[in-house]
Amino acid sequence: MTGVAQGAAAADGSSWHTIEVDLGERGYPVRIGAGVRHTLPEVIARIGARKAVVVSARPGAWTPDPGVEALHIAARDGERHKTLAWVEELCVCFAQFGLTRSDVVVSCGGGTTTDAVGLAAALYHRGVPVVHLPTSLLAQVDASVGGKTAVNLPQGKNLIGAYWQPRAVLCDTDYLTTLPQRERINGYGEIARCHFIGAGDLRGLGTAEQIAASVARKAQIVSLDERDAGLRHLLNYGHTLGHALERATDFALRHGEAVAVGTVFAGRLAGALGRIGPERVAEHLDVVRHYGLPTELPAGVSTGELVALARLDKKATRGLAFVLDGPAGAELVSGVPAETVAAVLDAMPRRATAGAPAR
Ligand code: GLY
Repeated sequence: MTGVAQGAAAADGSSWHTIEVDLGERGYPVRIGAGVRHTLPEVIARIGARKAVVVSARPGAWTPDPGVEALHIAARDGERHKTLAWVEELCVCFAQFGLTRSDVVVSCGGGTTTDAVGLAAALYHRGVPVVHLPTSLLAQVDASVGGKTAVNLPQGKNLIGAYWQPRAVLCDTDYLTTLPQRERINGYGEIARCHFIGAGDLRGLGTAEQIAASVARKAQIVSLDERDAGLRHLLNYGHTLGHALERATDFALRHGEAVAVGTVFAGRLAGALGRIGPERVAEHLDVVRHYGLPTELPAGVSTGELVALARLDKKATRGLAFVLDGPAGAELVSGVPAETVAAVLDAMPRRATAGAPAR
C-alpha cells in the first residue's frame, strides 16, 4: 500500500521516512532522510546480488560501499551526456565486469544520471535490478521515482526510453547540503507544483517531510497509472509552459525554475478559463514565491514562440493542452484556445533583462 511511514531510526536518532510505491511484485520502497545512503548494502543483500556496478557522479567519499564486489564508474551528469552511446558504453562495462541478471546496478547522481543508468539497467540482459541514489532535490522529488528512464536525441529530450522500476530509491538528504543554492531552489519547482496536484500545503515543513509528501503523492499516482495513460499527466502540472520555457531559453532557465513559472501561468490560465477564482490564482503566485522560485517570464522570449513550443507538448494531441486546476481539482484540459493562452502570456510580468531569473 502506498503511504508514508516513519522508518527505522537513523544513527543520530532521527527517523527516516519510507514510502512504498505499490506496483505489486514490482513495488519498492523510497527511503528518505539523512544518512540513508548507508543502507545500500542491506538493500543489495535483500536483492541477493553478488556483484554491483556503481555509476556515481559523486566522489568516493559520498558514494556508499555496496557491500559486494563492485565496479565503480564515474557518471557523466548533464543533459548532453544523456545519449544512447553512453548507455552502450555502460552496458559494455557491465558485460566486461561479468554482471549477471541477478546482480545489481546502482546510480548515484542527479536526474540525468538516474535516467541514463536506469535505461542501461533496463536494456542490459533485458533488465537487471537497479537502485537509485538521487543526489539533487529535483531527482529525489521526481526523476528517480516512478520508473521513467530515457536518453535524448538531437531531435528532442527523452525520446528513447523505457519504464523500468528501481528495486529501491535512497533519497539521502545529506547530499542536498552540498548543492549550490540555485540548484537546491530549482528542486523546489517540483515541490511547489505538488501543492496543486493533491499533496496539500507543504510550506513550513522540513525538507525531508516535503520530499516525503511529494514522493508519496507521486507514488499514489504512479501506482494507479504507471504508463502515463491519464492520471500521471497530473505530475506535469506547470510543465507544458515549463518545457517551452526551457527550450526557448536554450535551457538557461532550469527545469524547476521553468516549472515554477509554468505553475504561475497555469493558475492564471485556469482563472482566465473560469475554472478557478482570483484567490486561487493568487495562491499559485504565493506558493511559487514562497519557495524562492522565479515567477516572471524571462526576457527575450516571445508569446508566439511559447505558443508554438506548447503545441509540441506530448499531451497536445487535440489542440493546446494544459494540466489545470478546477472545481474538481487538477486535470488535463485539451483544446485550450491559442488566443486565450497568448492573452494570458501577454499579461504576465516579464523580466526586463537577461541573466539569472528574478525571484
Ligand atoms: N516526471 C513526470 C513523471 O514521472 O511522470
